[in-house]
Amino acid sequence: MRTHLIRCQNWFAAYTRSFFTGGDALDLPLRVKIEHTAAVQANMAQLAGALNWPPEDRLLAELAGLLHDVGRFPQYSKYHTFRDSISENHARLGLREIGRHRVLHGMPTGARRELSFAIAHHNAFNLPAHPDRRRTLLGCMLRDADKLDIWRVFKTYYCDGRRLNATVDLDLADTPGYTPAALESLRQGRMVRLADVHNRNDFKLLQIAWIYDLNLAPAFDLMRQQGHLEALARTLPLDPVLRRVVKNTLGYAVSRAAGPAVPQFATAVTGSAFRAQ
Ligand SMILES: [Fe+2]
Repeated sequence: MRTHLIRCQNWFAAYTRSFFTGGDALDLPLRVKIEHTAAVQANMAQLAGALNWPPEDRLLAELAGLLHDVGRFPQYSKYHTFRDSISENHARLGLREIGRHRVLHGMPTGARRELSFAIAHHNAFNLPAHPDRRRTLLGCMLRDADKLDIWRVFKTYYCDGRRLNATVDLDLADTPGYTPAALESLRQGRMVRLADVHNRNDFKLLQIAWIYDLNLAPAFDLMRQQGHLEALARTLPLDPVLRRVVKNTLGYAVSRAAGPAVPQFATAVTGSAFRAQ
């Protein structure tokens, strides 16, 4: 697997380079995605290590991180956006590119299937139930590793004033206050609906609600170690009701970090399916 990982890393570097135009502003989102890919790969290595996966499986986990957002590059090049709803599903687009370039060529069939499953569903609303536990576990891990780094990206954007691009938070206004329906979703441990997101504070609540879609105890642990989400939460208004709900949500993450490393995979994998455990 080590040889495959090195070969894929070389392919990824050359493939992504081919989308650069030479224009700084136009290429910046691509640089952000390359940085995101490296961070997700690193998160995967940490999560697989925390679960004591054997070395070959840790490399497979890294490969999933490396290849999960391949579709972002042709997506941005063709549509100049990262919004799937107005372009294409970037997971499917990525798998098409991976197939077209024979990136997984020579790998064992089982590994190829596990990787394809994880990549295909990394951005889906739910991870569908699958009888193969390894596939489900890799899929869960990738979704967790991805979220952990999206929190980092938004933290650099909101807290460190990093320039990304205008569409990064859907061009939302930086107005005071928040939408009560967004906070209510968070209070109930549900994802915040995009229809309830009207300003940056609502978007931050949406990001915080992702906690309920995190799966593995080591991911909750890593979330706390990295501290990006807590930093993001500190930029929210000093409204006592809002602060209490956010505090409870962060408290939930603390309890999950101390819980079973891997949740039971009984049904489709969603945050709410695991909440009772
Ligand atoms: Fe993605």
